[in-house]
Amino acid sequence: MIVELRHIQKSYEAASGIPVLKDGNVAIEEGEFVAILGKSGSGKTTLLNIIGGLDRDFKGEAIVAGRNLQKMGDRALSRFRNETIAFIFQTFNLLPHLTCRENVAFPAYFAGNAANRAEVAQRAQEAMERVGIEHKAASVPGRLSGGERQRVAIARAIFQKPRILLADEPTGNLDSVSGRHVLDLFMELNREDGMTCMLVTHDEQLAKMASRIVRIADGQVVGEERPA
Ligand SMILES: Nc1ncnc2c1ncn2[C@@H]1O[C@H](COP(=O)(O)OP(=O)(O)O)[C@@H](O)[C@H]1O
Ligand SMILES: [Mg+2]
Repeated sequence: MIVELRHIQKSYEAASGIPVLKDGNVAIEEGEFVAILGKSGSGKTTLLNIIGGLDRDFKGEAIVAGRNLQKMGDRALSRFRNETIAFIFQTFNLLPHLTCRENVAFPAYFAGNAANRAEVAQRAQEAMERVGIEHKAASVPGRLSGGERQRVAIARAIFQKPRILLADEPTGNLDSVSGRHVLDLFMELNREDGMTCMLVTHDEQLAKMASRIVRIADGQVVGEERPA
């Protein structure tokens, strides 16, 4: 299992201690494409943040790529995140003052490796070609459409060759055609690179693109199915 959540319980202080996740149990094999489907407020983002190591304030166990996230120190966890996990957000989260190429290469600076500029630029170029956005490399994100911005965000995500891609409502700000293209890209990365994908969505139709659907409601897994 590349992701294993056991009896996850989570409450936010500000929300008077009412549990947002009550007993989260999820197991995902390497190479799977899993959709987490649930209504707004059901705890999907909370769950994804725990898997991605962004939130360690919970009860239970989260084992990701063989590591028990709560037992890791801050620096080890942040290196682990950089090397293993990529996030895609509904709002793209690109830096507005950097070009698309710089946005894509940004994680390389965080990772602190001493790769030379030319090599970094080359890898950024390859990532952008992979998602068909290389012609916008020198533009700032503000000049791109939503679908193009999300492709830059995907190029940034795959730049580090992560084992796990976590996408939180990645098509929420896109029209249906652009959204479909984004999903096609995820499926290609899953199929060809063996990247494990978790797609969080409230959209039944989108969820059907995954090989397995995990339904959550009120902070609990309430069902699982495999779309035809
Ligand atoms: N930082 C926070 N502080 C307090 N409550 C929060 C916080 N984040 C989320 N919540 C609450 O937790 C519940 C689940 O939120 P979330 O995981 O974002 O759900 P979803 O992504 O399924 O819409 C909601 O009731 C939300 O209001
Ligand atoms: Mg959410």
